[in-house]
Amino acid sequence: MTGASSGIGAASARLLSRDGWRVLLVARRADRLDGLASELGDAVAVPADLTDAEAPQRIRAAVEREGARLELLVNNAGAEWRSSFADGGYENVRRTMQVNFDAAVRLTEALLPLLRASAPSSIVNVSSVAGRVGRPKNGAYAASKFGLAGWSESIGVEEQANGVHVGVVLPGFIATEGFPHKRLRASARTRWLVSTPEKVARAIVAAGPGGRREVYVSRPYVLVPKLRHLFPGLTRRSLGGGRL
Ligand SMILES: NC(=O)c1ccc[n+]([C@@H]2O[C@H](COP(=O)([O-])OP(=O)(O)OC[C@H]3O[C@@H](n4cnc5c(N)ncnc54)[C@H](OP(=O)(O)O)[C@@H]3O)[C@@H](O)[C@H]2O)c1
Repeated sequence: MTGASSGIGAASARLLSRDGWRVLLVARRADRLDGLASELGDAVAVPADLTDAEAPQRIRAAVEREGARLELLVNNAGAEWRSSFADGGYENVRRTMQVNFDAAVRLTEALLPLLRASAPSSIVNVSSVAGRVGRPKNGAYAASKFGLAGWSESIGVEEQANGVHVGVVLPGFIATEGFPHKRLRASARTRWLVSTPEKVARAIVAAGPGGRREVYVSRPYVLVPKLRHLFPGLTRRSLGGGRL
C-alpha cells in the first residue's frame, strides 16, 4: 500500500488488515508508518520516497524478505500542487507526474513478476475524477491522473491472461491531510460533495480483490465524464474559475 502514512492509504491499510491481509506500508514519513504498523499488529513499514531511483527495488526486496506472496499492489501515493500552467509551467507538470504517474509505473514494473507468480492477484491504481475531466489550476494533476487511468486500462487487458487484475479507483472530493477541501466543507451547500477516506478504502477493496475494473467515490461522480461528453459547454461553465 503506497501512501499509507495518511488519508486514503492509512484507511485502506486498516480495512485490509481487518479483512486479514498482511500489509506492507510505504510512504516517506517513517514515524507515521511505524505507528500504523504497531496499531495493525503484523503490518510492515517500508519508508521510501517513491521518486527515488532505487525505491521500487528496495520495496521489492522488502516483499521478498517477508517471504510472502504478493497478492495486491495499491498505487495510492499522490500529491497535488495547484497552479495554472502559466504560473507552474513544465516544472509543476514534471514533479506531479513523477509522484502520481511515474512512481506507480516504476513500482508496478518492479513488482509485476511477483504479482504474476501469485496470480490470481491484483493491482489497484488510485486515479481521480480529475482523471476524467480537466479543471482550471489542475492541469498537471489532471494529466497525471488521466495518464494513470489510461495506462491502467491498457495493462489491465494485457495482464488478464496472466491472472493479474487491474482496477482503477476514481475519488471525487475526499477530506484528507493533503486534500483538506476546507472551503467545500465549510458550506452546507457544498459539504455533501466531500466524502471520507474510509469510503475510498472500500472502493479499493472492490477494485482489487473484488474484481471491479473502475469504481467512483462517491458513486454519482460516475456522471461527471458522461456530462462532460454530453454537455461540454455546461461542464466548462460550471467548472470555470476553479471555484471547486
Ligand atoms: N483526497 C482527495 O480529494 C482525492 C481525490 C482524488 C484522488 N485522490 C488521490 O488519492 C491518493 C491519496 O491521497 P490522500 O487524499 O489520501 O492524500 P494524503 O493524505 O496527502 O496522502 C498522500 C500519501 O501519499 C504519500 N506520498 C506523497 N508523496 C510521496 C512520495 N514521493 N513517496 C512516497 N509517498 C508519498 C504521502 O506520504 P508521505 O508524505 O509520508 O510520503 C501520503 O501517505 C492520491 O493519489 C490522491 O491524488 C485524492
